[in-house]
Amino acid sequence: MTEHKDLASIGVVGLAVMGSNLARNFARNGQTVAVYNRSPEKTRALVEEFCSEGNFIPSESVEDFVASLERPRKAIIMVQAGTATDAVIDQLCDAMDDGDIIIDGGNALYTDTIRREREVAARGKHFVGAGISGGEEGALNGPSIMPGGPAESWETLGPILESVAAVVDGTPCVTHIGPNGAGHFVKMVHNGIEYADMQVIGEAYQLLRYGAGMTPKEISEVFTEWNSGDLDSYLIDITAEVLALEDAESGKPLIDLIVDEAGQKGTGRWTAIEGLQLGVPITAIAESVFARVLSSATAQRQAAQEEQLPSGEVAAGISQLGIDKKAFVEDVRRALYAAKLIAYSQGFDEIKAGSDEHNWDVDPRDLATIWRGGCIIRAKFLNRIRDAYDTNPALPALILDPYFKNELAELIDPWRRVIVSATQLGLPVPVFASALAYYDGLRAERLPAALIQGQRDYFGAHTFKRVDKPGTFHVEWSGARTISSL
Ligand code: 6PG
Repeated sequence: MTEHKDLASIGVVGLAVMGSNLARNFARNGQTVAVYNRSPEKTRALVEEFCSEGNFIPSESVEDFVASLERPRKAIIMVQAGTATDAVIDQLCDAMDDGDIIIDGGNALYTDTIRREREVAARGKHFVGAGISGGEEGALNGPSIMPGGPAESWETLGPILESVAAVVDGTPCVTHIGPNGAGHFVKMVHNGIEYADMQVIGEAYQLLRYGAGMTPKEISEVFTEWNSGDLDSYLIDITAEVLALEDAESGKPLIDLIVDEAGQKGTGRWTAIEGLQLGVPITAIAESVFARVLSSATAQRQAAQEEQLPSGEVAAGISQLGIDKKAFVEDVRRALYAAKLIAYSQGFDEIKAGSDEHNWDVDPRDLATIWRGGCIIRAKFLNRIRDAYDTNPALPALILDPYFKNELAELIDPWRRVIVSATQLGLPVPVFASALAYYDGLRAERLPAALIQGQRDYFGAHTFKRVDKPGTFHVEWSGARTISSL
């Protein structure tokens, strides 16, 4: 085994783009970084190319890698989520000593993180599942980091992670989220919100392109303008850039050349599944997952084109509906903002439900704080979300905060108008529409759930409660139809 004179304060295992960028980020910020990759060529290439950025200690075996770390050892795993992670954890556990810390920085399913924490703890080491957001660029220049795991690991790990995280108003975008799987759970919901945010932007684009007949370049300019107001965010910013790009070869807008089938690695899907399990109506997030799935149902979409599924009477554009373009663009902006608000509100609800279920005690203010920079959903309005939870940490729903309630009062009419227009144009707006259905459902005085309870009692004697007296009731539907109290 190689003897190391200077030891590394942190190690990175897995040197694909995210891993190597994170390692470089540590090195650039004055940490000596141990690096290891299964195929040593990657390790050599990283050190060769970037040794001028800081101190790297390369290793070609796990044992050497572990020996190059100062105690308590801290190693971040940046390999593909799944079985590869388990294999690396096992190797590290064999080589490490009690009290050392293994961090999984991938997009792991939080239930795997809970299991891994248990297994690693049984072997005397600490395990921290940390969500890391910001993509390749964030990993290099400052991501938002969501570490879970034991609080005592945070004491050791906190300063190192703070040294590489994005910083907003002097505050690093990292904090201890809660025990075991809390960090990965929160990162999962972050990604669910990310899916919804991307989809509402897509719906706005679709309406401006095929409803208002605007070109990608014109729409890019609209998004640039939106980016200086309430919608100021990373995703709006990159949308403007994507729409502005022309393919050099054909001279066409790139957007028209990209196959319209959205991929996914599954974190949004997990958020939707978990929402169902926890009984939280995360409808905007779930619809955004379904929208991606529908886009990728290639054979069915093709068949629907060939069979010319009837559209009914639809308008070819907003002028046919007598709608002014400028007014429409502003309405779409407001509808986007409203639907986005609902997605965030639902995401925070899911985090609360997950936190309650697992006793994690996650503070929503922390999330609003560390999501302001570095991560994919970073947006100016997270400051408002932070203010909302600062004012009332027990807010029953984000949209009930007075600031957001007032915003919604301004947004609601344009939001309704846009959905009506989208329907008349035959353009799909699943998240705009489902978010509004959620909103109307939440504020409704009476819901048809009363009828559902009646139906359930009819066919399954599932009983019901009454508004006018306490107790549980059942109707003898097949006989005299008398109502009895149970
Ligand atoms: C981030 C991203 C990142 C990644 C996901 C989502 O926060 O940096 O969410 O984790 O882009 O893998 O990708 P999919 O769209 O492929 O699910």
